[in-house]
Amino acid sequence: MCGIVGYLGNRNAAPVLFEGLKKLEYRGYDSAGIAVMERGAFSVVRRAGRVSELGGAVSLGGKCGIGHTRWATHGAPVERNAHPHCYKRFAVVHNGIIENEHLLREECRARGEAFSSDTDSEVIAHLLEQDYEGDLLGALRKTASRLVGSYAVAVLCLDEPDVIALARRASPLVVGVGEGELFAASDVPAIAAAGVRVYALEEGEFALLRREGASFYAADGSPVRKEPVAYDLEDDVPEKKGYRHFMEKEMAEIPLVLSRSASVGELAALAPSLCGVERVQIVACGTAYHSGLCAKRAFEALARVPTEVTVASEYRYGDPIVPPHTLAIAVSQSGETADTLAAAELARGRGALLLAVTNVRYSSLTALADFSLFTQAGREIAVAATKSFNAQLMLLYRLAEALAEAKGKKIHAGALDFIPRLAEEAARAGGKVRGWVPHFLGARAAFFLGRGADYCAALEGSLKLKEISYLPSEGYAAGELKHGTLALVDRTTPVVAVLTDRALAEKTFNAVHETYARGAKVFLVTTLPEYAERDEVVSSVLLPECDPLFSPVLSVLPLQALAYYVSIARGNDPDKPRNLAKSVTVE
Ligand code: M6R
Repeated sequence: MCGIVGYLGNRNAAPVLFEGLKKLEYRGYDSAGIAVMERGAFSVVRRAGRVSELGGAVSLGGKCGIGHTRWATHGAPVERNAHPHCYKRFAVVHNGIIENEHLLREECRARGEAFSSDTDSEVIAHLLEQDYEGDLLGALRKTASRLVGSYAVAVLCLDEPDVIALARRASPLVVGVGEGELFAASDVPAIAAAGVRVYALEEGEFALLRREGASFYAADGSPVRKEPVAYDLEDDVPEKKGYRHFMEKEMAEIPLVLSRSASVGELAALAPSLCGVERVQIVACGTAYHSGLCAKRAFEALARVPTEVTVASEYRYGDPIVPPHTLAIAVSQSGETADTLAAAELARGRGALLLAVTNVRYSSLTALADFSLFTQAGREIAVAATKSFNAQLMLLYRLAEALAEAKGKKIHAGALDFIPRLAEEAARAGGKVRGWVPHFLGARAAFFLGRGADYCAALEGSLKLKEISYLPSEGYAAGELKHGTLALVDRTTPVVAVLTDRALAEKTFNAVHETYARGAKVFLVTTLPEYAERDEVVSSVLLPECDPLFSPVLSVLPLQALAYYVSIARGNDPDKPRNLAKSVTVE
């Protein structure tokens, strides 16, 4: 992950870089740094912790510089591992992983070179110093050819003042061209401003930013002509709008986001291709994987099309069988998740039609896919996915209906149209979970139980809780608990059961009983009033009734809210949980 920025213009670079880094913090926030070039020397400020710790850097002079916000892969999140890394003539910021770092480092050491960090990235500065023969682009190309792995890099060289050299492989990088100034960044929001044209570097490309302008080069060094990409300025201004956290704001937006899914025009364009689909393979990570699990049930129930859901990092190394007429669906909020991209590419390479379900229109995933469907959730800033999950579900449910129609199956269309209104009711009812928080504060672990679609919601509720509250938590199939994990349940354990399918409810409640008998504190998220008041239950959220197949889109609301309130009560920042980042662009 990590975010990188570059600036060359007539303003002092450091404050521009600082502002850009703040907008990239979603990519990582365990340390940050800025280097500017002035009068033949680098001025560098690096700090452990968030970008705000760099406040002192803002006073640096120099009109040309690079910056970095880090999510540690190699080396602890401490100041000496923060970027930029400088070696002799070079300063480098890097997003990605250099997989042959060990060999390269040994090579450098054998030449008597000393390292000042534990990062894989520092080796790039050393290689540049070896490869430089008076031509920055040439040196960067040569160094890049020696790197195995992924990188977006921005480089300064003291011998070539007022130049920023850029390279990209498997990590995103964009260039901005404004009036008399040039920018580089991992993502558009860091450089988006009125009058700035944005150009995306493609796989294996290089760029040079000079006072005369930006030039782009293919891997073989030949010049490349580029068209600017379109972007929406409005969309790129993240504001809390009176909410305490982005997560709170994003949860509040869910009903509105769901109502947008009614107008997914691209679904109609996809319809003719659905007739021939004989199986579906879904690849995704984290919350998006849970969306895939929910979707599987809808695809199979409505369209009777066999559907597999695989964690992308497993799929990509699993030698998957992709029979003819397979529709592969890659689900990713960011469209930049490295494992999902690799899995999607593999599925497509083996003959699948590739559909991207993503929230980001100009992402690496959409560039790869045959078709793309956009979740229209709006920009999601909080690391914990909330509204994007609900939006993915609605879109995938609509896709399931479209697939069923293409397959000539009868469905009761229209049920999904009520979901946005029901989500408003569910969000109101879900406010009750605030009262559950004290039971979670004294706990050593929590469990989330469900069967069928409720199990998928339970998995997501559990991920949300552990991700932002740091309380160990398991989402479990209600019937599976007794096969080992029940040993963990004691009087301190809160158990949240999701119960929205009358046909399965009594069976799920058996499992609830088994935990209650061991002293667990039972909480219920249910659409079934007859269970809400049962003696075993400490407290229930009663949701409006909906088709159990689609119920996770509602039942997850109180679970997201619960995670949020527990996180705050434990003194955490729910928007920026420790060790995590919004966009996981490394393996
Ligand atoms: O951008 P993506 O949807 O591909 O991201 C996948 C996961 O990294 C993501 O859902 C992660 O699990 C969230 N932080 C969960 O809240």
